[in-house]
Amino acid sequence: DRQKQDELKQAAAKQAAGLVEDGMILGVGTGSTVKFFIDELGRRKEEEGLALKAVVTTSSRSRKQLEGLGFTVSELADIDQADLTVDGADRVDKQLNGIKGGGAALTLEKNVAVNSKKNVWIVDESKVVDHLSGFPLPVEVLPISCEQNKRRFEAEGLNPQFRLNADGSRLKTHYGNYILDLHVDSVPVPSGLADYLDHTVGVVEHGLFLDICDEVIIARDNGEIETRC
Ligand code: A5P
Repeated sequence: DRQKQDELKQAAAKQAAGLVEDGMILGVGTGSTVKFFIDELGRRKEEEGLALKAVVTTSSRSRKQLEGLGFTVSELADIDQADLTVDGADRVDKQLNGIKGGGAALTLEKNVAVNSKKNVWIVDESKVVDHLSGFPLPVEVLPISCEQNKRRFEAEGLNPQFRLNADGSRLKTHYGNYILDLHVDSVPVPSGLADYLDHTVGVVEHGLFLDICDEVIIARDNGEIETRC
């Protein structure tokens, strides 16, 4: 149930917060698990005087929460690189490759991640898979050629669908682009698909995060916390 799920997320978030040290430049991701991580940062600030050098984040929601707790949030362009970034993920496989972008913030998430010395993901057991599957792969595309890219992906059998708002209109990202979710059963060769998308003109970014995550903290249904590096 929901409460149990939240307790698991909280436990993983707490463990990740234990990796945060005074004087760090910290990257903070997005999502319901990260929300608990930010709560814990706030508690450490309040009770232990945790003092960070800078904080960057990947969504306005996380920014609001951080600022509400008294953290000053910097822009990515204003820092050199983060010492540590903690984020959620939508799927993660055995090689610690993942799919992200369920919240449509993949472009900023990937930019923060690659400009971070260490990336830790906090997930519950349901997101851990042998091979990347079970979640549509988000691709952020420029509006100018979105129809052509959609047709191109269709021809490749990638089953693209524009992500929509509740009112049926196309969802626009923070950067004014669209999201094409690729409804593929599984991604047998993630690096091959990533390569293809990286070389498709009009693709701004995609949700395959390969060789980025250094450590994943998994909250198991039985209450145990497992760390994989
Ligand atoms: C955002 O685009 C995603 O990559 C999130 O990191 C992901 O959806 C995790 O969110 P939850 O912790 O709410 O599942």
